[in-house]
Amino acid sequence: MAIDTCIFDAYGTLFDVTAAAREAASEDGFEALTDTWQTVARDWRDKQLQYTWLRAVTGEHVDFWKVTGDGLDWALEASAIADPKVRDRLMQLYWELSAYPEVPAMLGALKDAGVATGILSNGSPEMLQGAVSSAGVGRLLDHVLSVESVGIFKPSSKVYDMVGRAFGCEAGRVLFVSSNGWDASAAKGYGFCTVWVNRMGLPVDRLDHRPDHVMPDLSGIPALAADL
Ligand code: 2OP
Repeated sequence: MAIDTCIFDAYGTLFDVTAAAREAASEDGFEALTDTWQTVARDWRDKQLQYTWLRAVTGEHVDFWKVTGDGLDWALEASAIADPKVRDRLMQLYWELSAYPEVPAMLGALKDAGVATGILSNGSPEMLQGAVSSAGVGRLLDHVLSVESVGIFKPSSKVYDMVGRAFGCEAGRVLFVSSNGWDASAAKGYGFCTVWVNRMGLPVDRLDHRPDHVMPDLSGIPALAADL
């Protein structure tokens, strides 16, 4: 079935989740991060995702900004950083995360080819608006979908249901793109054609569904969408 809709995960896929800690570590006054920013970034992301999965199982939903702050608090304590200015700066940078360099041209190529585009993300609507506007890609996205509409995090199927409702398309016409292997696996099980963006050369997740395609970055997405 031809692809006419391309849906992107946001954090880690369009937006570089390590950029906040990396940028803060380069700024004056944040020397506490000089040797720890990579550990902080890894722990922050790991805990952020773990908390979303646990809250999806227990039904104790809070929005992604709260979970992002909770994950950061754990990560900073684990690296013995207690300065509130560091936390405040990291959260501010997370609000305006950098997009990966190939994102604007990739989205533009999809729009030029007449493909509908969107984001499907754990992010709250306000967070996503902040990231999309700071990356300057809002005009290249037809819909920005937040799990806050359904009150549960990925990989609940209620989240993937949002795509059909927003775009009026069948699952088989959707190319779903995520850097999170578990997200790509769940989307494949849901019925989307899937791409796992494996920037770090990681092993594939041992789950029931494997992604249809694996790419090192997003630059090949327009050509793939045209060939499917
Ligand atoms: C997102 O939903 C999974 O954090 C990732 O944007």
